[in-house]
Amino acid sequence: MREAVIVDGIRTPIARAHKEKGWFRTLKSPDLLTALLKAMLERNPKVKVAEVDGFYVGCANQTLSQHGIARLSWLGSGLPFEIPAVAFEMQCASAMAAIHGAANAIIAGQGDIYLVGGAEDMLHVPMGANIEFWSQIGKFYNPFELPMGLTAEKVAAKWNIGRQEMDQFSYESHMKAAKAWEQGKFKNEVIPIEATFEDGSKQMIERDQCPRGDTTVAAMGQLKPAFLPPDKSKGVTAGNSSPLNQGAALLLLLERSKADALGLSYHLKYKSGAIAGVDPTMMGIGPIPSSQKAMKLAGISAQDIDVVEINEAFASQSIVSLKELGIPQEKANLWGGAIAIGHPLGASGARITVTLNSIMKTDKKDAQYGLATLCVGFGQGAATIWERAK
Ligand SMILES: CC(C)(COP(=O)(O)OP(=O)(O)OC[C@H]1O[C@@H](n2cnc3c(N)ncnc32)[C@H](O)[C@@H]1OP(=O)(O)O)[C@@H](O)C(=O)NCCC(=O)NCCS
Repeated sequence: MREAVIVDGIRTPIARAHKEKGWFRTLKSPDLLTALLKAMLERNPKVKVAEVDGFYVGCANQTLSQHGIARLSWLGSGLPFEIPAVAFEMQCASAMAAIHGAANAIIAGQGDIYLVGGAEDMLHVPMGANIEFWSQIGKFYNPFELPMGLTAEKVAAKWNIGRQEMDQFSYESHMKAAKAWEQGKFKNEVIPIEATFEDGSKQMIERDQCPRGDTTVAAMGQLKPAFLPPDKSKGVTAGNSSPLNQGAALLLLLERSKADALGLSYHLKYKSGAIAGVDPTMMGIGPIPSSQKAMKLAGISAQDIDVVEINEAFASQSIVSLKELGIPQEKANLWGGAIAIGHPLGASGARITVTLNSIMKTDKKDAQYGLATLCVGFGQGAATIWERAK
């Protein structure tokens, strides 16, 4: 029986997608992927690039500088043209779709070694750039109910999640991320990236830009609703939403016996992966059916899950998804989630997997099952279960 294992997982720091304040404002997604490919190959010299079976990349908005992202960033990194590259698009779960693709290719015997990750640059390729909505959608759904922030409001209203609960959840995300950074927990997974600014000055970016260790629930309570007028809003704000970001993440997945033959270590194996569809006007609940499907495929239940990485697109949807899955918040996002760390859309499926891998290698050495899951714009969810490889 062939198995897919994680040999390594790395990511860039995650920067704000802000034209004046963003630390990566002079960089584009291929720059970030090039830096990760270089670092990954350097720190795993037993893996020869000529033996790589594929480079799989998730990216939500594959236009402008993210057009042809997988192949062009591979070639632009000076890597051999014989190695194929494939881009995956499933909005926020694009990189998770890439991970499922690579793991399934390994299990099916199509290849033994895959570099798989994702990238998104929400500054130079903003959400909605170059898109034209197909008008037929309007026959079935109200187009004003489809933007992400409005789906978060709808989930909060339907499950009666109040402002206080959303702000408290988000505050904790910032506290956990700030503490994890302070304790050096991200050291092994974050690869410093050199940024050159407009005046020619250079700076090595070594940490995430968004965690706010100094925020308070009271300060967050002052923020105005971001998507609806105050009288119509349940209180979805900039404070309890994921920010806009630039970032990338990359995993090295190998067939288990190949990893053994090369003398490479690992601690997680791919157990199951699933995707599911939900009402697009409440896209945030996608983690519920996708995780349930993945657990069923794995032959386990929610009680068996020891550690969870759920992508915090919004506090409302994370709170509801965990509640409906019957997974306590204490098991989730131990080093902070996307509200604090950031959510570069197409990279996030890989970013949360990289962090899950790090957590299960260090803080949660006894955990047997880890779940990584995300909600997906236009009403889907994706989930992966990783099992400790004994
Ligand atoms: C919500 C959203 C519209 C806010 O955009 P924005 O106003 O540009 O938000 P910012 O993150 O720049 O925050 C604005 C200000 O709010 C304040 N603020 C935000 N979070 C805060 C916090 N936790 N504590 C205190 N102040 C905070 C700050 O003053 C901040 O400005 P500054 O940091 O430059 O001083 C945007 O982040 C967004 O669209 N998020 C969702 C993205 C999305 O849909 N992703 C896909 C999900 S499926």
